[in-house]
Amino acid sequence: MERAAETVRLFFALWPASDLQAKLAAWAREAAGGGRAMRQENLHLTLAFLGATEAALVPDLIALATGVRFATIRLPLDRVGYWKHNRIIWCGASEEPSVLISLVEDLRARLDARGIHYDPKPFVSHVTLVRDASGLLAAPAWIPLVWEARDFALVSSTRVEGLVTYQMLRRFPA
Ligand code: 2AM
Repeated sequence: MERAAETVRLFFALWPASDLQAKLAAWAREAAGGGRAMRQENLHLTLAFLGATEAALVPDLIALATGVRFATIRLPLDRVGYWKHNRIIWCGASEEPSVLISLVEDLRARLDARGIHYDPKPFVSHVTLVRDASGLLAAPAWIPLVWEARDFALVSSTRVEGLVTYQMLRRFPA
């Protein structure tokens, strides 16, 4: 009998340094209300979500991402929002910097060229802060922050004893 190929759940993301993650997580805990604040070490901004992917493709993904050129991204996290459809509270930039858009386009074009599947929904940059939230009513005032992103990462996601755990497989510097 042929064995099913081993798969891993993957995505590319910008990963904040721990001091920025700590600030975001502190706000998320206060804003959560009855929702679930994301754990500090899990906070990130997804560039492309691949989902279940053959583990054997990881070296190809590392090779294609290594070729991506981009300048440091200065991303103002100047707003928070709430999306009813998926019940998340998020923060993001009211204007996405063009370097961020180009990075996402380049990455997605390289995935297309290799025929590697990812979620094709249009990119809307955001950092999910709270899940299962009912709104922003409990949220404290937002103090705008600036994120200087100097690299992006290929990340795998697993569930360990019910907890979503992310592992950075490789970082790609600007
Ligand atoms: P979200 O925070 O808006 O839910 C890991 O699941 C990351 O990939 C999350 O940041 C999640 O975004 C993002 N993502 C994008 N498309 C996804 C999809 N189709 N399924 C699950 N997560 C997705």
